[in-house]
Amino acid sequence: MEKKKVLVTGASRGIGKAIAFALSEQYSLILHASKPESLESLLKELDGEHEVLCADFSEINAVKEFCSALKKMAGKSFYGVVNNAGVALDKPLMYQSLNDIDKMLNINVKAPLLISKTALKLFIGNKEGVIINMGSCVGETGNAFQVVYSMTKAAMVTMTKSIAKEVSLIDKSLNIRAVTVSPGFIDTDMTKSLSDDVKEKYLEMIPSSYFGDPNEVANVVKFALSAEAKYINGTNIAVNGGIV
Ligand SMILES: NC(=O)c1ccc[n+]([C@@H]2O[C@H](COP(=O)([O-])OP(=O)(O)OC[C@H]3O[C@@H](n4cnc5c(N)ncnc54)[C@H](OP(=O)(O)O)[C@@H]3O)[C@@H](O)[C@H]2O)c1
Repeated sequence: MEKKKVLVTGASRGIGKAIAFALSEQYSLILHASKPESLESLLKELDGEHEVLCADFSEINAVKEFCSALKKMAGKSFYGVVNNAGVALDKPLMYQSLNDIDKMLNINVKAPLLISKTALKLFIGNKEGVIINMGSCVGETGNAFQVVYSMTKAAMVTMTKSIAKEVSLIDKSLNIRAVTVSPGFIDTDMTKSLSDDVKEKYLEMIPSSYFGDPNEVANVVKFALSAEAKYINGTNIAVNGGIV
């Protein structure tokens, strides 16, 4: 039987790479990063046949071209989207450049929105599909020096809820879901640049007392995509070691 196809954005590093490993046996993947070179070694390491589709999401025209190419690649077995690619350009808001604000809005919000828009049409044709949007604990709590980033992650939560509600109004028989997965502090390039003082401060706030492993998020994404999770819809799953 043909494997179901799943798009994973930001698969070159960190959480996205762990998601690619977790899904690679069960699904045929469309792997995304900003450049194909950064996916070369991953493609060699993964089991199975997978495709690559790259775009720099900071450029909105590149996102549009990405969505057009996705439509052509998707086909009847297209089943899932993991909107994982994201950037955090931390700075006090009063010093944040318009360029960096636009980058975060394009990569973290407009790209997942346009990809979801494209995927929904394809899913309606296929009568099934799951969209997983990567949120963050700071999307709920807010965070100093992450005003824009936190805002973009809060947007994932409402985007997910609204998609779930909208799909059910279009046709209740459609087996289409949307779920947000919101990690806490995870050990990836995104958190490596934090100073030791800041890491110490965050660790004190995490009841599980460590920064999460990317695989701990990937396992939850794998479950949320699966048929076993079919009653999980429109909601936000926290994977954060208990941080509040
Ligand atoms: N790490 C954490 O503590 C944490 C916590 C909560 C939420 N998250 C969220 O989880 C997701 C993954 O985070 P991570 O920690 O794994 O980050 P990461 O290690 O920094 O990886 C980011 C991924 O996003 C892609 N990306 C970055 N800029 C891009 C651009 N301009 N165009 C296209 N793709 C781009 C990168 O691709 P390239 O290799 O091509 O740059 C990379 O694959 C993000 O949405 C992040 O907000 C992370």
